Amino acid sequence: MPPGPLIRRLLGPYERGVAEAYRRIFINLDALAELMSAWVPQAQKILEVGCGEGAMTERIARTYPTASVAAIDITPNVGRLYRGPASSVVFRQETVAEVARREPASFDLVVLSDVMHHVRSDIRRSLLRAIDQAMAPNGSLLFKDWVISASPIHWLCAASDRYLTGDDVAYFTIDGINALVTDVFGPSTIRHSSTVRPWHNNAAVLVQRSEI
Ligand SMILES: C[S@@+](CC[C@H](N)C(=O)[O-])C[C@H]1O[C@@H](n2cnc3c(N)ncnc32)[C@H](O)[C@@H]1O
Repeated sequence: MPPGPLIRRLLGPYERGVAEAYRRIFINLDALAELMSAWVPQAQKILEVGCGEGAMTERIARTYPTASVAAIDITPNVGRLYRGPASSVVFRQETVAEVARREPASFDLVVLSDVMHHVRSDIRRSLLRAIDQAMAPNGSLLFKDWVISASPIHWLCAASDRYLTGDDVAYFTIDGINALVTDVFGPSTIRHSSTVRPWHNNAAVLVQRSEI
């Protein structure tokens, strides 16, 4: 068993604060939320895939206070540290394929934040295809991931991901993200791309299938 879950539980009431501070070493999630809001000013039905314990979910719920948010993950700890608005957010342990079967073509924003490097390379396309099926025809996908660099912060991030989560993580290059997205959604579907503070390793792209 990886040490991450044990360390977190030993922190008791300090876990949430420590988890937020630790994450901030690598990514400013508030800056990601600002970017999301600039790229997608309005959304009513949102799906967060791989929401984990709910850190980005809180920013999504606060950015779109009138939206309904479905936050899903394959782990049982889904939404465990979430402290945002309760009435508009539903956490479920399920796959995006299950959501897409139940509610096809219905989400006007899908958020995938720091998930794909945890997903085995041979199932990445099928995960994106399921997201494609869940997205409304004029919907958007915010795809954020950590890209490789020859730098101490990347080595720290990779060591932390492998040691703490125990996952066999595999990171992208920005060309790898672009290739994967265009392979599934088609050419010219990346409408915006940017980096997110504090590191250029935080790459975000906005994917839209049709002109809106
Ligand atoms: C680093 S956490 C990111 C959590 C959250 N998105 C955020 O940015 O705060 C990565 C999450 O991806 C989830 N994950 C990995 N593979 C997945 C899959 N195939 N479908 C859904 N979630 C997945 C993991 O369980 C984990 O909770």
